[in-house]
Amino acid sequence: MKASLDRKNILLGVCGSIAAYKTAMLCRLLVKAGANVQVVMTQAATSFITPLTLSTLSKRKVITQFADSETAVWNNHVDLGLWADAMVIAPATGNTLAKLANGLCDDVLGASYLSARCPVFFAPAMDLDMWQHPATQANIQKLQSYKNQIIPVGVGELASGLSGPGRMAEPEDIVTYLAQFFRQQIHKQPFKGMSVLITAGPTYEAIDPVRFIGNRSSGKMGIALAEAAKEYGAEVELILGPTHLRPQVAGINVTPVQSAGEMFEATVPKFAKADIAILAAAVADFTPMQTSTSKIKKKGDDEGLNIPLGRTKDILATLGKQKQSHQKLIGFALETDNEVSNAKGKLTRKNLDFIVLNSLKDKGAGFKHNTNKITILDKYDNQQAYELKSKAEVARDILNYLVGLMMKT
Ligand code: CTP
Repeated sequence: MKASLDRKNILLGVCGSIAAYKTAMLCRLLVKAGANVQVVMTQAATSFITPLTLSTLSKRKVITQFADSETAVWNNHVDLGLWADAMVIAPATGNTLAKLANGLCDDVLGASYLSARCPVFFAPAMDLDMWQHPATQANIQKLQSYKNQIIPVGVGELASGLSGPGRMAEPEDIVTYLAQFFRQQIHKQPFKGMSVLITAGPTYEAIDPVRFIGNRSSGKMGIALAEAAKEYGAEVELILGPTHLRPQVAGINVTPVQSAGEMFEATVPKFAKADIAILAAAVADFTPMQTSTSKIKKKGDDEGLNIPLGRTKDILATLGKQKQSHQKLIGFALETDNEVSNAKGKLTRKNLDFIVLNSLKDKGAGFKHNTNKITILDKYDNQQAYELKSKAEVARDILNYLVGLMMKT
C-alpha cells in the first residue's frame, strides 16, 4: 500500500500572516512526502512570502489571482477544487477564517475553498487576543460544523511579543496530521482508486427456447462481495448470471448475462483494467453442443432424450494466464470431498492469489443460504478457517484477507 501522502493532490492556501514563512517548510515537506502541491495565495500573503519561493518549492506556478495578469489565462478555481484530495490553509488568518465561515469568495483562495469537494484543513495563526475573541471562536465552530478540520494552534511566544495560544502548528505536525488523516481513509476505504471485477450467480445453458441446464447458485455471495468492495472504495464491475437479486449499494456497474459463454465474453475483456478479480460465479462446466431454436417435442411414449454436452471455457483459468504482477485473482471452490487438496489444486492450476473454499458438508454454507462458512487457502501455503457467518460478513472477511495480502506483497 502506498505511503499516505504519496501522489496526493494538496491545494495549499496561504494567507497574510507572519507565520507564512513556515509555509515554505510545509510546502517542502509535503513535496518530499510525494504529494503534488498547488499553492494558492491571498494578496496579503504575498507581502509575507514571495510566490517565487513557493513556486520553486512546489515546482508549480503559484496562483494569486483569478486570472494570470501576464497571460490573461483564467485560473479555474472549480478545477482546483476538484483536483485536490485535500485543501490545507496554512496559515489561516482571523480575516480568512471569518470570510470562509461566511462563504465570502472575493479572492481565488476563497473561491477554491467553496469549490473544494475534498476535506479542508485550517492551520490558524494569529495573536493571542484575536484567537481568543468570541468572534474568531464562533467562526472556528461554524467552519467545523461544515466538516472542516482545525489543526490545533500551538501555545508559546507570538510575533507580537505576547505569549499564549495562536501560533500556527509546526509544519512537521501539519504533515503528520494530514498523513494520519489519509492513513485513516485508507483504513476505511482500502480499495479507493482501485477497480474490482466480480462474477456472481449461476449460468443457464440453453437446451431450447424454454429449457436450460442450470445450478442452484443464488448469486448472494458474489453480490455481497460487490457491495463490500464498493463500500471499501472500489469501482466495481459485477458480471451477474441469471438471478432476480441485485446489489443494494449504489454505484455498482452490473452486466447481466445468461450463459457461461456470455459470462466469458463479458468478463475477460474487463480484466485488463482491473486491479482485483474475484470469480464467485457458479459457472456451468458443460453446455449443450447445440441449442434448438424451437421447443424440443416428445417422441413416442417412452423415448428419452440425449443431449450432447461440450465443455465451457474456464473464465478463471483464462484470467490466471493473463494476470499481471500488480493484479490479484481470487477464485472459489465448492467441494464435497478431499476439499483442501482439491482447492489447492485449483489455486495452483488457475494461478490464483487465494481460493475461497466452501464445503457442501458444512451446514448453512453454499448455495441459497444467507450464511456461509469458508476456509481461505493462499498461494503462500497459509490456510485460515472462519466461523459460519452472514454472507455480508464473509465478504468483508475475504476483502480483509486480501488487504492483508496486499500490504505484505
Ligand atoms: N470458473 C470459471 N469459469 C468456468 C468454471 C469455473 O470462472 N467455466 C470459476 C468459478 O467462478 C470458481 C472456480 O472457477 O471461482 C471454480 O473452479 P472449478 O474448477 O470450476 O470448480 P468446479 O466447478 O467445482 O470444478 P471441478 O469439477 O473441478 O470440481
